[in-house]
Amino acid sequence: MPSPSAVIVLAAGQGTRMKSTTPKVMHPLGGRSLLHHALEAAAGTGAGRLVVVLRHQRDLLAEHLDGLPEHISGSVAIADQDEIPGTGRATECALARLPEDLDGTVLVTYGDVPLLSAATLRELTEFHETGGHGVSVLTARVPDPTGYGRIVRDAGGGLAAIVEQKDASAEERAITEINSGIYAFRAATLRAHLPALSTDNAQGEKYLTDVIGLAREAGESVAAMTTQDLWQVEGVNDRVQLARLGKEFNRRLLEHWMREGVTIVDPDATWVDAGVRLAQDVTVLPGSHLQGDTVVGAGSVIGPDTTLRDARVDVGATVTRSHVQGAVIGAGATVGPFSYLRPGTDLGQDGKIGAFAETKNAQIGTGSKVPHLSYVGDAEIGEHSNIGCGTVFVNYDGVSKHRTRVGSHVRIGSDTMLIAPVTVGDGAYSGAGTVIRKDVPPGALALNVAPQRNLEGWVEQKRPGSAAAQAASSAREAEQSGTSPAAPDGQAGTRAQPQPHNDQETNAAQGQPDQHTSEERGA
Ligand code: UD1
Ligand code: CA
Repeated sequence: MPSPSAVIVLAAGQGTRMKSTTPKVMHPLGGRSLLHHALEAAAGTGAGRLVVVLRHQRDLLAEHLDGLPEHISGSVAIADQDEIPGTGRATECALARLPEDLDGTVLVTYGDVPLLSAATLRELTEFHETGGHGVSVLTARVPDPTGYGRIVRDAGGGLAAIVEQKDASAEERAITEINSGIYAFRAATLRAHLPALSTDNAQGEKYLTDVIGLAREAGESVAAMTTQDLWQVEGVNDRVQLARLGKEFNRRLLEHWMREGVTIVDPDATWVDAGVRLAQDVTVLPGSHLQGDTVVGAGSVIGPDTTLRDARVDVGATVTRSHVQGAVIGAGATVGPFSYLRPGTDLGQDGKIGAFAETKNAQIGTGSKVPHLSYVGDAEIGEHSNIGCGTVFVNYDGVSKHRTRVGSHVRIGSDTMLIAPVTVGDGAYSGAGTVIRKDVPPGALALNVAPQRNLEGWVEQKRPGSAAAQAASSAREAEQSGTSPAAPDGQAGTRAQPQPHNDQETNAAQGQPDQHTSEERGA
């Protein structure tokens, strides 16, 4: 198939019906701006030169163009439209940015037609070149042609002219074949006739469509190629159309992935961005949003109710009801339900991040697990370690963030606080509730428990008449009469009567055996 020499994308208009401070063509659909979609199709034709015509919010759009992928930003030029309005003037401004001796085919399309494919543009190019036309117009028959330029055909069925809605007679307005605004021109035809356009019409604009009459008068052949796929030529004018076209774009994309071997249980409740890549036998459950540059490996199960943004999920992983951004999930790993993986999370093979865990900038090694209710930030965890429930990697001292290093085969007890910067050696343990403020050597058990004090009878004394006090006396009475079902192995009735509590006394009975306690007291 032939490639055009250049593609011109018109995007100078204001897009007032969007009612937005954001330029219309920067609104996203399927994870890409409308302009990005237009340029992706344009670049897909193989044209070496892309020109975008800008005027309204020009600088903002120029910056947006700079940020697009290299295959677009590297070959796109900006043409600034002046104060003369109309699609004809816009194309004239673009032509001035192309070499004077450019030959071959120049395509013209719009920045707000997101479903238009490169394949359709290539088909139009082939139609145009095979027919040896000066101008070829892409047209469509639509149920309601209001607002569009109408395709007027001559007695032989050939293209005679395009008449704008505002300039059309009642008879012409009844025509249902419309101009999509997408054309192929011979470069020389544009050069010859654009300067001759006038603004003598209902809108005082230079109409690109008038090139057709001028080319015909000059004896050039003009033709229309009709498409059956109306979605491809539908433009976005307001947010209702944005949603409508967004839904259809998503439907088509999901159909593509299903044909590639991806199971999508409910396409109506699944949203996938254009840049996402899914391997064979991935399953996506309802309520899932796969966004940005997300890549999912074979056999993984995503969802339900999961958002993956710029994430990499390797083969055979499971991500359930979770929010994942800028993270890597290793092969066979499991995430969720209700996990929050923030940028820089790298979960190793067969690892686990479980319910109500949040991670950020954390490398978690092969087989290591953060199963419940934890925060792991600015951390490095080795292999096959387990982080007990409720553990917090305390990374922020109020001024700076610090890192925590946990070795391999470590067992961090529930409710441990790791005050960074700190290192826990391989094979070390921590007791439940430990606050780790200094490094733990390999194989050590870190503890800083204060002795537990049971102040016998405290509730009945200090909260007399409360439900708790009543429950306590009933329990004691039941123990004394030997009827307590809870009393373990025949010890019923042996517990002492409530005594006036005395801290020293009760403490003494609970003496701690090792130096950890005294060290902590001294600290
Ligand atoms: C134009 C066509 C009409 C066609 C319709 C399809 C002309 C005269 N009419 O209508 O036959 O059915 O598109 O949508 O061409 N633009 C510029 N500079 C301008 C004016 C427009 O860059 O001065 C851009 C807009 O940003 C937009 C596109 O051209 O992307 C079309 O402009 P719009 O005003 O929507 O189209 P019409 O002129 O109404
Ligand atoms: Ca207009």
